[in-house]
Amino acid sequence: MKQTRIFLMMILVCLVAKLSAQSPISKSVMDNGKTIYLSRCLACHQVDGGGVPRLNAPLDGASAVIAADKAKLIRIVLKGYSDRVEIDGEYYSNNMAGHADLKDQQIADVLTYIRNSWSNKASAVTAAEVKAIRAKLK
Ligand code: HEC
Repeated sequence: MKQTRIFLMMILVCLVAKLSAQSPISKSVMDNGKTIYLSRCLACHQVDGGGVPRLNAPLDGASAVIAADKAKLIRIVLKGYSDRVEIDGEYYSNNMAGHADLKDQQIADVLTYIRNSWSNKASAVTAAEVKAIRAKLK
């Protein structure tokens, strides 16, 4: 009985260790995300993710882009963004339309791409996470 418990504890420790280790992001996800970025985001956010001063928010180094909580990011891509709120100390006057026509996997990949491009480094976004937010917005 005691041995079983120790064995189960060891499995649990291994699982937690595996979950907390940042799994590497595959090249195919990054390639797919880049393709979407180039066709749907580049015009405003620019090839270097720097945006356009006072017009389009930068994505490189943006605190919201690399935030642990991905819900806001997913909502921005689905619903668009024209709140004119202060973003990292600046205001941007352009309007970002929603991209709800993109599939869950496409939104996940483009967000994983912007979270891991330029100087950004953050965990991947999954299609399941996008699906959950999309369901809440309906
Ligand atoms: C028409 C121009 C335009 C396009 C195209 C566009 N955006 Fe945006 N984006 C903006 C603007 C403008 C803002 C800031 C909005 C505000 O201040 O209310 C913004 C904000 C954002 C933010 C929030 C940044 C922060 O720091 O809070 C993210 C994330 C983002 N865009 C991602 C994307 C992605 C991903 C795509 C492509 C699927 C995309 N955008 C396409 C103009 C655009």
